[in-house]
Amino acid sequence: MDQYIIKGGNPLVGEVEIGGAKNAALAILAAAIMTDDTVRLENLPDVNDINVLLEAIGGIGAKVERVDRHTAVINGSTIGDISVDYEYIKKIRASYYLLGALLGKYKKAEVPLPGGCNIGSRPIDLHLKGFRALGATVDIKYGAIVASAPDGLHGTHIFMDTVSVGATINIMMAASMAKGNTIIENAAKEPHVVDTANFLNSMGANIKGAGTDVIRIRGVEMLHSTNYSIVPDMIEAGTYMFAAAATRGDIVIKNVIPKHLEAITAKLEEIGCEVEEFDDAVRVISAKKLRRTHVKTLPYPGYPTDMQPQIAVALALASGTSIVTESIFENRFKYADELTRMGACVKVEGNTAIIDGVDKLTGARVSAPDLRAGAALVIAGLAAEGITIVDDIVYIQRGYEDFEGKLKSLGAEIERVTSEKEIQKFKLRIG
Ligand code: EPU
Repeated sequence: MDQYIIKGGNPLVGEVEIGGAKNAALAILAAAIMTDDTVRLENLPDVNDINVLLEAIGGIGAKVERVDRHTAVINGSTIGDISVDYEYIKKIRASYYLLGALLGKYKKAEVPLPGGCNIGSRPIDLHLKGFRALGATVDIKYGAIVASAPDGLHGTHIFMDTVSVGATINIMMAASMAKGNTIIENAAKEPHVVDTANFLNSMGANIKGAGTDVIRIRGVEMLHSTNYSIVPDMIEAGTYMFAAAATRGDIVIKNVIPKHLEAITAKLEEIGCEVEEFDDAVRVISAKKLRRTHVKTLPYPGYPTDMQPQIAVALALASGTSIVTESIFENRFKYADELTRMGACVKVEGNTAIIDGVDKLTGARVSAPDLRAGAALVIAGLAAEGITIVDDIVYIQRGYEDFEGKLKSLGAEIERVTSEKEIQKFKLRIG
């Protein structure tokens, strides 16, 4: 099992290049099979979740060619099976986007029900409600969602009870190939919703209003080929922004859309960092002791839940008491005990973490409970005195391309290791 070994204490300094957004790419890859023409996708992140979804798409018969590390060419004309294998769904929940894509294109789909996930209960009732509103029958049979609309899908008016990124995207995909007009109200506004809409429009769909809370879709009969480049990953960018904050570093984060980072930037400034914005880059300078703050996760443009563990690490090192409220997923504080083992003072009560800042963290052996919490523990290790070993980094590899390589280029002492021998070698090297 891969682990990270980290010798903390170095401020991270330098420049880092951000890749394409994992969560946009997952939706766009699924949508790419909705045409029988060839689709070329660029700026795909080379992370495990993307590679699994590419396999799932190949698994139903589409042609998938990985042209280079960040480019894939997909042709959905050879799809012979509308039933997705549980193997893939088990590994990545986002394979459920194939439900909206297959239902839109073939008017039928069969996708296993995604299992539980480690950040909380993750129902998909809103996705199914949306498909039913579009005229599909949706049943759960033998552990799979079986959706079909033999008479076609019909445009409709859908009000989402809860703001959901996944449900907004899934319904938008299916509605793109329905007859007539669909209106989605209380839609999610995340940049990856907008990117998926832009991608579908580049294939000939007619979607308006993505990025606002009302999305209007005029169904089309066919979609066509396109070349598309995925939007930069705001969560990868935000993670490096907080790595600068927690290590008292100075990082220029390149290839970003600063507008997407506004909620993160605002919090960094509030806790005492300086943030400079350029056209497609941001620079975070952390020169002073960090200050306390309160933060509550909210749908975009609010502070993202995917950035909650990272800010908690910075607040663990800030002066005073901070309060972090998680309002999207109930189980996103699993890093708290690990952080406590590193000397942080974190108390979790329901959906709130109360963090009393300490002067320093100390290295410990910790375990990544999920993707974003795993990345946050790496940041904690980089800021801590001494050696930290992070177990279960397979979660981190799901969503961060070359995490250790990018951190090393910023001056971090970090190594991916697989054996005790390699751990000893690292310890000898760093003295
Ligand atoms: N919800 C429902 N019913 C549904 C769908 C969602 O009640 O049918 C609830 C959820 O339980 C949650 C809230 O709605 O409380 C929002 O969930 P959402 O559907 O927006 O989340 P998601 O689509 O499952 C995506 C990202 C997550 C990210 C969330 C929130 C992907 C593949 N995943 O999940 O990313 O945290 O949006 O922004 O896009 C990550 O990358 O680490 C990650 C977990």
